[in-house]
Amino acid sequence: MFDNFYRNKKVLITGHTGFKGAWLSYWLYLLGAKVSGIALEPNSNSLFNKLHLKDKIDSNIADIRDSNLINNIIQDYEPDILFHLAGQALVKKSYENPKNTFETNVIGSLNVLEAVNSCNSIGSLVYITSDKCYLNNEWEWGYRETDPLGGIDPYSASKACAEHVFKSYAVSFLNKKKRFGAAAVRAGNVIGGGDYSENRIIPDIFKSIENRKAIIIRSPNATRPWQHILDPLSGYLLIGKKLFNNSNVFYGESWNIGPNNDSIKTVLELTNFFLENWEPLNRPVVKLNDLGSNLHESNFLHLSIDKIQTKLKWHPTYNFHQAVKATGQWYKKVMDGQKPLEVTKEQILEFEKKINA
Ligand SMILES: NC(=O)c1ccc[n+]([C@@H]2O[C@H](COP(=O)([O-])OP(=O)(O)OC[C@H]3O[C@@H](n4cnc5c(N)ncnc54)[C@H](O)[C@@H]3O)[C@@H](O)[C@H]2O)c1
Repeated sequence: MFDNFYRNKKVLITGHTGFKGAWLSYWLYLLGAKVSGIALEPNSNSLFNKLHLKDKIDSNIADIRDSNLINNIIQDYEPDILFHLAGQALVKKSYENPKNTFETNVIGSLNVLEAVNSCNSIGSLVYITSDKCYLNNEWEWGYRETDPLGGIDPYSASKACAEHVFKSYAVSFLNKKKRFGAAAVRAGNVIGGGDYSENRIIPDIFKSIENRKAIIIRSPNATRPWQHILDPLSGYLLIGKKLFNNSNVFYGESWNIGPNNDSIKTVLELTNFFLENWEPLNRPVVKLNDLGSNLHESNFLHLSIDKIQTKLKWHPTYNFHQAVKATGQWYKKVMDGQKPLEVTKEQILEFEKKINA
């Protein structure tokens, strides 16, 4: 799918110490890219540390709210491609600290756009937001790229704002750049090995298994379009390649990435299928708490992926069962003593085989 496009390319990833950023950094490293990153310090048990990425890529610990610092790092590195993933990524945290969420997701993103604007080396910008940027009417059909943006919780609102900032910069400033492509990309809930974030379902289940405690499932009947992390990352990589040096085709557009409709399942279905990776005796008790939370969070949200399927020929590689199985196997193998680096590499190579088949 990417041929040898990324070999020897200088790629800068903001948010490289996070869940998606670590997988993307390692995948690009395996593809032969020269990877640099900008992000905050990783957590001690992060995938970034488990993959020893500090020894494989050029890692800059810097806050994207610091415009001068970010600008200097980007100008010094002179990347060919920039993937912007850094952000405050959790809805619950956005209620606890809305100011930080808006400053990071909106002003931080603006700082990245400013730096991109004054950097002549960059041939493509892939600007990651979220499926939550859409004004959610709890429709049962998927949102299209042309639907109105908006958000009630601070996280969703910050991602909608980040989209507006992108569009404004794309049509007012970045369009003056030569041989440059840019896109905003909206993906939904991802699952995969090595996520240790708080308040996300897979890490919560895994912690219960490790600590031999019951799992308390909040909102067991809430539905989400689950997808394996390598699926949206393959979309980001494809977009980065297609837009490279290309100001004419698809310039400044937005793209949805998501699974097929058969991956829309409840939190309880996800939990039960994930636990099938463990022997019945080693599975924790599942307790349901369907009172939900008093904080607003969308119950039903999924994206139409017709545009990317038709125009870029990108399609989801894993269905729900394959995505959950790969995720469960990652945690199970690591728990059984296999090195996270080995398991992650195996899973990336397996996925590549499937997309290239
Ligand atoms: N994980 C998902 O299901 C999901 C779904 C939709 C969109 N997204 C978006 O994808 C991106 C990556 O998500 P993730 O799951 O890897 O999140 P994560 O929380 O694991 O990682 C976030 C990354 O951003 C960095 N970061 C946060 N604040 C920063 C700051 N002020 N300065 C510099 N770096 C900062 C962190 O250090 C980390 O590297 C985010 O923008 C998120 O909103 C994630």
